[in-house]
Amino acid sequence: MVGDWPAAVASAWHPIAFAQQVTAGRPVAARLMGRPLVVARDDQGTFVLDDRCPHRGVPLSRGHMERGAVICRYHGWSFGRGGTCLRVPGTLLPGSPVGALPAVERVGLIWTSLADAPGALPTLPDAVENSALDRFWWPLRATRAGLLDAVENHLDPAHPHHVHPWMMRSPNRRRPVEISVRSGPWGAEAIYLERTKAVGLIPRLFEGTRLTSIGRLYPPTIAEVAFEGDRGLRLSVAVVFSPEDTGLTRPYAHFATARGQMPAWIKRSLLKAFHRPILAQDRRILALQDTWRRDGSSKYATGPLDVMGPTIWRLANGVAEPERQHRLTMEL
Ligand code: FES
Ligand SMILES: [Fe+2]
Repeated sequence: MVGDWPAAVASAWHPIAFAQQVTAGRPVAARLMGRPLVVARDDQGTFVLDDRCPHRGVPLSRGHMERGAVICRYHGWSFGRGGTCLRVPGTLLPGSPVGALPAVERVGLIWTSLADAPGALPTLPDAVENSALDRFWWPLRATRAGLLDAVENHLDPAHPHHVHPWMMRSPNRRRPVEISVRSGPWGAEAIYLERTKAVGLIPRLFEGTRLTSIGRLYPPTIAEVAFEGDRGLRLSVAVVFSPEDTGLTRPYAHFATARGQMPAWIKRSLLKAFHRPILAQDRRILALQDTWRRDGSSKYATGPLDVMGPTIWRLANGVAEPERQHRLTMEL
């Protein structure tokens, strides 16, 4: 158990940096569930240590790298992977080690876990690992938002009319959309049968006629929204939400599009330009939520269109989620 974070969040692996940020030349500061960490690289790959020199408490991320070891900038103690103190300058006597955490590099991210016995790495959306698609990660700063509130926001179909009017949905031209929702211990999926033209210039460019949009939860904190047309996947926006601290959540956002006539770099610029205001609008609304409860919230009133929230909270808190399936119609 890590503090009072929800059980499945506390025991999960979370990304703390992009692999390409961490070079052999410089340690990188990171934070996970309130714990300051430092990520470094030696010739075996990346490693993660507590970002606090055991000698006098200076952050190791303020130091530098020498031959694969992190050197503290105060008295020069050096620490290698595993946290061993390799050298105390001016003596041959040993120094104390620093805490070390596991590190795994996967899909361009560095993942770690604060759990004593971390489980398996989380399942990722297919689009994140599908090399047949044009893909990119968009580095974003941490946001003032509850972790599970942010996960729900990405999968919530009921807010775009209000928070992003005209950008994704028309506020005054709602149409009935049939939704099929499935959930279980593996996560949740909501399939929206749309059969409409996407709203907005950029979505139309990427999607044309939208057949289905799909929200998927990969517990505890990964959410994907995918749009499919008659030729399969058109656009996937997957976000791995990492809990930096209470009320401070970093979204690792991944975009994938079907390869087509448009060069990947143009699509990347267009997608960023389109999503920049949307992200800012979501950031503002998430910061306004009255609390940043770590557990999602048993105190929220759940409405008929909150298709994902309760499943997100149950799975994050390690509450059993039996297989279930239902259909509903929503005006979107
Ligand atoms: S504080 Fe790090 S070596 Fe003294
Ligand atoms: Fe939104």
